[in-house]
Amino acid sequence: MRGGGKVLERGYLIAVEGIDGAGKTVNSMWLVRRLRKSGYRAAYTKEPTEGPIGKVLRRSLARRGSNPEIDALLFAADRLHHIRTFIEPRLRQGFVVVTDRYLYSSIAYQGALTGDRRWVELVNRYCVHPDLAVYLDVDPSTGLERKKRRRSDARAFEDPEVLRRVRAVYLELCAEGKMVMIPADRELREVRAEIARVVGERLGIEIRTG
Ligand code: TMP
Repeated sequence: MRGGGKVLERGYLIAVEGIDGAGKTVNSMWLVRRLRKSGYRAAYTKEPTEGPIGKVLRRSLARRGSNPEIDALLFAADRLHHIRTFIEPRLRQGFVVVTDRYLYSSIAYQGALTGDRRWVELVNRYCVHPDLAVYLDVDPSTGLERKKRRRSDARAFEDPEVLRRVRAVYLELCAEGKMVMIPADRELREVRAEIARVVGERLGIEIRTG
């Protein structure tokens, strides 16, 4: 596995979450670059994955009329494969693993779409809990506006009404203390300063924002 630098005794798992167009990918990649520059071994990863289950999942999402219960099971299976083959081996080696979407995407999206958040949590029972989960909050209209400029596999989830329900579940998770909310409807520079502050405060990892 690539990456030199400060070796932590145990790694950390950081999940970056939000609705489509919230800025998860640019900010997760930035965080990994900054962690490496600050001397940590860090890895970027994302869900759905490019693994065997992730591929089936993407094909299913690209078709209209995918079924929310089946999607929930596929996302959970893809996640467990991701944990066993990618995340856990790196955590054992002291990496800070930054995942662009994770467990909370399933709770928010499939929870909203099936109307059964508890069942979604149950099928994800063997999922490793992250050390920190950050929720980048934007209004669904901002997210959709940003997303319009890019190709997407997930047409089914681009309905503003669906995104409003998804956002409501994310906000519930923040209120329960499971995620840290960062307003992301503002300058990238400000969002990043806030991410660095939260990572420092919660994990004791100092990163230079530069
Ligand atoms: P992406 O656009 O971040 O690649 O994600 C593709 C879509 O998959 C996105 O609309 C959110 C959705 N998704 C879920 O519905 N549940 C999940 O557990 C994950 C990881 C993603």
